[in-house]
Amino acid sequence: MSGHGHYREAHPLPLMLSHWSNLISMIVLVFTGFYIHFPFFAGFMGAARSLHFFFMYLLLVTITARIIMAFTVKDTNQMGTKDRDWDWKNWIPQAENRHQLIETAKYYLFMRKEHVISAKNGALQKIAYLATIPLTYAIAYAGFAIYTPAHQWGIWPFFEAGLTAVGGDMNMRIIHYFLMWAIILFTMIHVYLANIYGVAPTKLMFFWIETEDPHDRYHQ
Ligand code: HEM
Ligand code: HEM
Repeated sequence: MSGHGHYREAHPLPLMLSHWSNLISMIVLVFTGFYIHFPFFAGFMGAARSLHFFFMYLLLVTITARIIMAFTVKDTNQMGTKDRDWDWKNWIPQAENRHQLIETAKYYLFMRKEHVISAKNGALQKIAYLATIPLTYAIAYAGFAIYTPAHQWGIWPFFEAGLTAVGGDMNMRIIHYFLMWAIILFTMIHVYLANIYGVAPTKLMFFWIETEDPHDRYHQ
């Protein structure tokens, strides 16, 4: 398969906007989170906490909206086409992904020369993208469990149960902190792999700019 570009149909506008919202939320949450963990300059704690508490809700709303959009927005499910189908199909294995997980891992480990031809998203990509959802809800859960105002909420026993299970507030704070590192690690690998064959996917995902390139290596 070759000779196709990166079309807008691959990432419709609402999905581009949700990616922006998630990215900005993550940047603010990581920065303020590091600051709350270790205030590396003076006088910002009030602002850091307020920002953290605002963007945690934005992140939750966006990720939930993104899940709803998987069932209500159509995008491409294959490479090199503008034909659209439900987005949720991009998140689960498709026929084109069969027998590709090991092959893709081999390719990244320099044990296989040819790029693995796949559906719009490869097997590893699907696993990684899908993992961002439980990861985000897990960090949110740990966050609310250490959020004092949540004690007043009707669903507080749901968070309290988690605190009891992990052995208290301090442990939950450490879990929240380590989940941040899991997200940072995902993002670093994700940014690297998304741009490894050129910036065409990023130009599309961030600025909705299409690239027509019949020799585009990313999609070979
Ligand atoms: C999405 C829901 C989230 C909620 C409800 C939440 C909630 C909280 C709360 C309540 C605190 C403690 C603030 C304080 O005591 O002053 C905190 C700290 C922190 N948050 Fe979040 N947060 C969320 C997401 C995130 C994300 C996405 C990251 C990073 C990727 C993050 C990183 C941190 C870090 C590093 C700390 C400091 C922990 C420490 O003291 O070691 N949070 N968060
Ligand atoms: C500078 C940072 C980032 C860059 C350059 C980037 C780039 C991209 C690109 C190019 C795609 C489309 C992949 C393709 O079609 O082949 C994509 C999709 C995706 N990215 Fe990122 N990304 C960044 C940050 C993040 C962060 C922080 C998260 C979440 C923690 C994230 C989660 C996702 C997810 C879940 C998708 C799947 C598509 C969708 O949601 O519609 N990205 N990203």
